[in-house]
Amino acid sequence: MPQTYVVTGAAGFIGSHLAERLLRDGQRVRVIDNLLTGDRTHLDTLKSLGGDLSITIGSITDRDILQALCRGADYVLHHAALPSVPRSVADPLETHLHCVTGTLNLLVAARDAGVKRVVYAASSSAYGDQAGGVKAESMRPAPISPYGAAKLAGEYYAAAFTLSYGLETVALRYFNVFGSRQDPNSAYAAVIPKFITTMLRGQRPTIFGDGRQSRDFTYIDNVVQGNLLACAAPAAVGETINLAAGGRVVLNDLVAQLNDILGSDLAPIHTVERPGDILRSQADISKARELLGFEPVVDFEEGLRRTVDWYRTIPAAKSS
Ligand SMILES: NC(=O)c1ccc[n+]([C@@H]2O[C@H](COP(=O)([O-])OP(=O)(O)OC[C@H]3O[C@@H](n4cnc5c(N)ncnc54)[C@H](O)[C@@H]3O)[C@@H](O)[C@H]2O)c1
Repeated sequence: MPQTYVVTGAAGFIGSHLAERLLRDGQRVRVIDNLLTGDRTHLDTLKSLGGDLSITIGSITDRDILQALCRGADYVLHHAALPSVPRSVADPLETHLHCVTGTLNLLVAARDAGVKRVVYAASSSAYGDQAGGVKAESMRPAPISPYGAAKLAGEYYAAAFTLSYGLETVALRYFNVFGSRQDPNSAYAAVIPKFITTMLRGQRPTIFGDGRQSRDFTYIDNVVQGNLLACAAPAAVGETINLAAGGRVVLNDLVAQLNDILGSDLAPIHTVERPGDILRSQADISKARELLGFEPVVDFEEGLRRTVDWYRTIPAAKSS
């Protein structure tokens, strides 16, 4: 029996993959995006799948739109945000508007519509750059950027809505998700699409700092899987849960692995560190295992190969 899902931010990277999976599973899908960082072609891809899809071009800062969108919906997968640390450092008010005010609007609409559950895309940036390396949910959050603070505020609002109104919410803290459809051309692009497209052009990738910083790179299919589990797991309600691969990849090694896959030998260029950047980011995923029954479905190397294969097929990899 199909259920109705609202996916916010579905013209973006993660949201478009979630909507695609739901459509392929035969669910009814309503998506919203204001195209702030999203790409209309991802919505065209969703349309081409031919399922039960409705698309709203609009903003989660508009409460009337959200009330209409949530009416009669079963689940909300909330992924709309302005997901950039440097952009939040440059303009914290804009980040607050899309990440915090938008989330609060959505929670109110979901509560009023009586949806079964809201899954919130939280961020590892809530941990900041704490000593010890591996991040567990029991650690005190300590964001070091306006973006991290805004994503954390969304988590707190989600949990408070569970306690105050009985709205079921789950916050999934993602750690450096990668895969097809990430925009490599923005000044704020994530490191993997940026490196892949630069190296596909035969150019050397630029690393901010000495390249010894590490990330828990998480292939997109694992995040999609985690969202589906989070909609159903009874023990997850009101919880914040790390969703990641649970591994640690150093940026210098990432360049080496990409050289292997591409058959190239491109040394990185090192420049000054960026403000707000975190040195080491790795997740403890035992809570996801316990509460969601989560296991990564695709490992880092396989995910990297699939991602390179996808970027080989798009013109952006050849231009600019
Ligand atoms: N990609 C990651 O590694 C990562 C890590 C941690 C958390 N997250 C979170 O996951 C979510 C999705 O991230 P992504 O990487 O797919 O980013 P993305 O930029 O590709 O997608 C975000 C989408 O939200 C849309 N959006 C922004 N403001 C909006 C508004 N006011 N109304 C409607 N739509 C709006 C954008 O146009 C975009 O399509 C975000 O909430 C982000 O904070 C992502």
